[in-house]
Amino acid sequence: MAIELWETLKESITVYTGLSPATFFTVIALGLALYYVVSELFGSSSSEAQYKRSRDAEEEVQPLPPPVQLGEITEEELRGYDGADPNKPLLMAIKGQIYDVSQSRMFYGPGGPYALFAGKDASRALAKMSFEDSDLTSDISGLGVFELDALQDWEYKFMSKYVKVGTIKKTVPVTDGETTEGDAKPAEAAPSESVVPEPKETTTGGEADKE
Ligand code: HEM
Repeated sequence: MAIELWETLKESITVYTGLSPATFFTVIALGLALYYVVSELFGSSSSEAQYKRSRDAEEEVQPLPPPVQLGEITEEELRGYDGADPNKPLLMAIKGQIYDVSQSRMFYGPGGPYALFAGKDASRALAKMSFEDSDLTSDISGLGVFELDALQDWEYKFMSKYVKVGTIKKTVPVTDGETTEGDAKPAEAAPSESVVPEPKETTTGGEADKE
């Protein structure tokens, strides 16, 4: 049955195409091969280009990671967020309040016109509209009313434009007297008081309750 069909097919090929079956199938095979080669060339290159284009677009419009709250950090630590490391947020502080200014990398990022403010509390420079190195400080002592007013405006601008992510830890000047009284003494005093309190029910007990 199958052989009969095959014979009929061969005859029909010869009758209709004038080609021998072998030639006919060779021509078909070559045609298919050519089709695949051509479609592979154009098809793949265009989809590759499309893929590359969409990947480029993704890189360009990659959304910024959400701002991370840092709590209290020192000015020293803040310096690590000056935009040099593209994987870290770009931060800037005004009056001790730290803002995530990553969205304005073109201003504050490396090479930007205001890169000198990145990773710093440059309140004085902003108040005085100054780019002087000596003004790149959070010290706003001795400023005039207009300068303080200008600084206030900057603060409002930052509050409305950026997310606050922390505050600058105040570095308290350490003196010998303060350290012992502020840190060590109460820490020692508390347990020693609770160890001694045998006579709690008597006089000292009353005092302890008051405290
Ligand atoms: C010739 C003088 C200046 C010109 C023409 C100028 C121009 C500009 C412009 C066009 C912007 C962009 C505003 C926006 O799109 O929101 C800008 C932003 C800014 N300028 Fe200036 N500026 C000048 C001086 C200064 C000075 C002296 C300071 C401070 C010391 C300063 C601090 C800033 C800051 C911090 C921003 C960014 C504000 C933000 O994050 O949105 N500029 N400036």
